[in-house]
Amino acid sequence: MSGLFITFEGGEGAGKTTQARLLAERLAAEGRRVVSVHEPGGTPLGEYIRGWVKSQSAPLTPEAELLLFAAARAELVQRVIRPALAEGAVVIADRYADSTTVYQGCARGLPADRVQAANDAATDGVSPDLTFLLDAPPDAGMRRVRIQTSFDEAGQVEPIPRAEESGKRRFEELGLAFHRKVREGYLALAQANPNRWVALDATQPLEVVQAQVWERAAAGGSA
Ligand code: TYD
Repeated sequence: MSGLFITFEGGEGAGKTTQARLLAERLAAEGRRVVSVHEPGGTPLGEYIRGWVKSQSAPLTPEAELLLFAAARAELVQRVIRPALAEGAVVIADRYADSTTVYQGCARGLPADRVQAANDAATDGVSPDLTFLLDAPPDAGMRRVRIQTSFDEAGQVEPIPRAEESGKRRFEELGLAFHRKVREGYLALAQANPNRWVALDATQPLEVVQAQVWERAAAGGSA
């Protein structure tokens, strides 16, 4: 029996994590075995890389970033995702290889073939059946974020200010150009592969997005 692999993608603060959790809860309530993962993370190495990447303020080269995310993903695929799918589970991933394509490729500017090679090595043929893009203009997404960290263009981990602190215009303007590239990258991927991608307007109320996710996921990933 082989399971179903569903991924959630999008910029910061678009509600991916919440929607992934709501879908997991509903599928579990219907009696499906569900395995939820959040990248980077989900294995000892993945958590180490997550903690390291998020705690360091020193800039990382895009090349190193690419390989760190790939290493975390390789562990997750071989130790968690592939075995769970082989047992018939639904695997729900909050970010996967498309995050690398968009963040390290489109936004950081690494050559697409190099990013593709790293993704191929990490995923080893395990690709999603269905991917939800939670699409929102980056400024709206950033307003929704409370205390969270993210990468800026220079590879530094930076706190995203709370809405009420968002008078820090220099930071926002710096960050926005990067996050706009992220958004454009995702929209281009979704347009190029409509069989796998479902792009949803993440500025809608949470319940509306949740219903749209459920409608499509309940169809089992088939268009
Ligand atoms: P996280 O706190 O998980 O953010 P989010 O809730 O938005 O997923 O931090 C993950 C950060 O890592 C986020 O800024 C996106 C970035 N990232 C990449 O740049 N490349 C990748 O391959 C992955 C998985 C994440």
